[in-house]
Amino acid sequence: MAFKTITAEEAAKLIKNDDVIGFSGFTAAGCPKVVTRALAARAEEEHAKGNPLKVGIYTGASTGDSIDGALARAHAVKFRSPYQSSKDMRTELNNHDAHYFDLHLSELAQYLRYGFLPRPNWAIIEAADITDDGKIILTSGVGITPTIARLADHIIIELNRYHPKETAGMHDIYEPADPPYRKEIPVYSPSDRTGKPYLQAEPSKIVGIVETNLPNEIGAFTPTDEVTETIGSNVADFLSSEIRAGRIPASFLPVQSGVGNVANAVLGAMGANPGIPPFDIYTEVIQDSVIKLMLEGNVKFASGCSLTLSTPVLESVYASLAELKPRLLLRPQEISNSPEVARRLGLISINTALEADIFGNINSTHVMGTKMMNGIGGSGDFCRNAFLSIFTTPSTAKEGKISAIVPMVSHLDHSEHSVKILITEQGIADLRGKAPAQRAKAIITNCVAPEYRTLLEDYLKLGQKGHTPQQISAALGFHDTFNKTGDMRNTNWSKY
Ligand code: COA
Repeated sequence: MAFKTITAEEAAKLIKNDDVIGFSGFTAAGCPKVVTRALAARAEEEHAKGNPLKVGIYTGASTGDSIDGALARAHAVKFRSPYQSSKDMRTELNNHDAHYFDLHLSELAQYLRYGFLPRPNWAIIEAADITDDGKIILTSGVGITPTIARLADHIIIELNRYHPKETAGMHDIYEPADPPYRKEIPVYSPSDRTGKPYLQAEPSKIVGIVETNLPNEIGAFTPTDEVTETIGSNVADFLSSEIRAGRIPASFLPVQSGVGNVANAVLGAMGANPGIPPFDIYTEVIQDSVIKLMLEGNVKFASGCSLTLSTPVLESVYASLAELKPRLLLRPQEISNSPEVARRLGLISINTALEADIFGNINSTHVMGTKMMNGIGGSGDFCRNAFLSIFTTPSTAKEGKISAIVPMVSHLDHSEHSVKILITEQGIADLRGKAPAQRAKAIITNCVAPEYRTLLEDYLKLGQKGHTPQQISAALGFHDTFNKTGDMRNTNWSKY
């Protein structure tokens, strides 16, 4: 091999305080796993000696514990962007120990190219294979890798033998030109290819190869329960009724489905619904349920940014590459999440809200308006540009002490203009063509948990007379009551 083999510790020693690192991968799929652990250990040693060692980090989305967990616990992160879902990183961000800049996932690569954010000094890239002239076969997640490989001064490769070289051909690596030279992204159907199956890196930038053999750090999904299954069947019933009404073509449209347990349950229910024909997926995260639906014949093709599969399911895909590789495509996130492509393909987008308000605004990110949960992820890329944008959420959280439907969201990620359908386990609110007061009625009647219905109806009776009948002094009354008493059901409007 043309490149020097080095240890993770040797690689970590090259990184200096204040350096900026871009990582390959998307979710825990395709992320480096050993150099960051060595860097975290070094940071702890340096901090013990009183020396600073903090780095800025860009990732595709969330990562495995070896990046966000290890670096957060070592207090080695100066700033971070974009999405994360690590408990330890969340603590760092909420304590302002690391600065977090959340943004739409489709935007990060171009923000870096435009110079809006500090340029990465380092790209650390997990590879399944590399040639002497710098052609890299990525592993199970693509993320922002093409851009950081091009912009970074130096590249460290983690060559992970766990991922078979035979995945070559599953990736489609393409970076659009920047304005004023940008052209259309020529994806007209989910299986269209626009780029190359490998990433071309500049060989002189590659400072070393760290050899590994490690699975992705992806946990198993929580099994579906009655609430998530009911949300799933409400989504599937709604979509099949849209086909019957002639608003969705009988051949169906490509589906984008969000992350997490609700998303897994929704896809399962769609596969089981006889009114929905086999469909294509154009999304960012390909989860376990997609592979199951593919094997059952309900999903024809899946394009995404990562195979975020539990270890047994990823291994089953690797064992059936001849059958599955032609039906899977992994792209950079600025293509998988491209607003232009989402609008052209006519995606049905299904994302999960943390809370929604009775007028159809969505909070995807901030618990009680202040604490960052994960980040906006790709939800904004998709919902604003979809053919039909659906948000789902269980109607309550924390054993009913929190209503996920509130008078006014405590933080706004997606406005009423991007939200067409709201679905909980209670039912479906179709918000299309409805004025704010009509939306409130549809949401309270169909989506709110029974113990909160009267409270929200009474809230509307306090209402101002304007177009959107908010009572501003009471609009955050549910949150205020929760903060004071630990239960939104104690809300007493006469106090506001
Ligand atoms: N207020 C406070 N806490 C709430 C809440 C609310 N309104 N709603 C949910 N929670 C809590 C839950 O109790 C749970 O807490 P726990 O971890 O202590 O058990 C936690 O939030 C997660 O809720 P859960 O129902 O398990 O949700 P999930 O795994 O389906 O994730 C989001 C939901 C919103 C956090 C997640 O979908 C997300 O990060 N979305 C934003 C990005 C996105 O949409 N990406 C997809 C684009 S492709």
